[in-house]
Amino acid sequence: MLLLSILLLMSQAKGVHVECGKRPIFEGGSQYSRIIGGMEAEVGEFPWQVSIQARNEHFCGGAIINKWWIVTAAHCLISEELLPTDLSVVLGSNDLSSPSLDIKEVASIVLHKDFQKVNMDNDIALLLLASPITFNGQMEPICIPRKPTPSTWHKCWVAGWGQTNSDDKYSMKIELMKVPMIIMDWEKCLKAFPKLTKNMLCAGYENESFDACQGDSGGPLACTTESDKTWYLVGIISWGKSCGRKNTPGIYTLLENYTLWIKKVTEMEGRPFNAEEMRGSPNRKQMRSHAAEFPEPGSRRFWLLISLLPYMLLWAIFY
Ligand SMILES: *[C@@H]1O[C@H](CO)[C@@H](O)[C@H](O)[C@H]1NC(C)=O
Ligand SMILES: *[C@@H]1O[C@H](CO)[C@@H](O)[C@H](O)[C@H]1NC(C)=O
Repeated sequence: MLLLSILLLMSQAKGVHVECGKRPIFEGGSQYSRIIGGMEAEVGEFPWQVSIQARNEHFCGGAIINKWWIVTAAHCLISEELLPTDLSVVLGSNDLSSPSLDIKEVASIVLHKDFQKVNMDNDIALLLLASPITFNGQMEPICIPRKPTPSTWHKCWVAGWGQTNSDDKYSMKIELMKVPMIIMDWEKCLKAFPKLTKNMLCAGYENESFDACQGDSGGPLACTTESDKTWYLVGIISWGKSCGRKNTPGIYTLLENYTLWIKKVTEMEGRPFNAEEMRGSPNRKQMRSHAAEFPEPGSRRFWLLISLLPYMLLWAIFY
C-alpha cells in the first residue's frame, strides 16, 4: 500500500511536465532494424503514430498529443452511425499483428464543427481515450507546433500502415511504412489545387512519385527543427489528387491553425490539453531546408508496390 502511494506520488510529480516529440528508443540506437525495401519504419521511430480501427480493421492513422488525446482527420470519422464504442486506437508497435500492441477504447469523438466535405476545410478531429496512455518509448506524444513556427522545417516524414498480403492469407503482415516529405510553397500549390484553403499545406517530394498516399488519412506529417531532436505535428494527412503521381503533392491540414481549437475542445470535454505541460525544446533558430540530407529513396519496385496497395482506405480523390 505504501509502495503504491509512493509510486502514485512519483508518477504525479513526473506528470507535471511531459516531454513531447522525443523518440527515446529510436535515438538510443534502435534494437534492430529490418532491412526490407529501406522504407519500413524503425522501432520507436514514430512512437506517436496510432492506428484507428473499427471491428479490428485499420482505417485511418492518428497521432498521440498527450496521454488522453489523439489527433486525426475529420473525414475519417464523419459517418453519422459511427459511435465511440465502435472504435479502438491501436498503438505501441509498428507491427499491427504484434502481441505487444496496446488497444485503447474511445470515450468520445470530437469533429471540427466547420469541417467542409466539399473542399475538406478544417479536416481535423480529436479522439478522447477511455483510459490514459502510459508513455514507454514505444508510445510517446508528439509536440504541437507553437507560434511562431519555423518558416521551414528541417525534416518531415509521413508514415502509415501498408498491408502486405503474403501468399499465406493467414500471415498478413502489417508494418508501418515511412515516406520523406518536403513542404511546398502554398501559392505554388494553389495553382495545382484551386480548392486549397489557408488551413491546408502541401507536401511532396519533387521528381519522386511518393506523396501522402503512402501514408494513411488522419496520420501525422511529423517534422523536426534542425537544432534539436524534437518532432512536431505539422500536418494531418487529408486529401490529394491521386496516389503517387510524380510532382503531385498531397494536402494536409495545417495544424498550427488549430492549437486554440484543441485547447478549447479538450477543456470542454473535461480533459484539457495544456501545450505548456508538453515540453518540446523551443524553436531557437530559423531553420533552413536540407532536402539533400534526406535518405535516398528506396528501390523503384518498392515504391510501385506501395502505390498499388489499397493503402489509404479513406484517401479522398477529387479529380
Ligand atoms: C527535378 O527534375 C527537373 C527536370 O529534370 C530538374 O530541373 C530539377 O532540378 C529536379 N529537381 C530535383 C529536386 O531534383
Ligand atoms: C491559418 O494559417 C495561415 C498561414 O499561417 C493564415 O494565413 C490563416 O489566416 C490562418 N487561418 C486561420 C483561420 O487561422
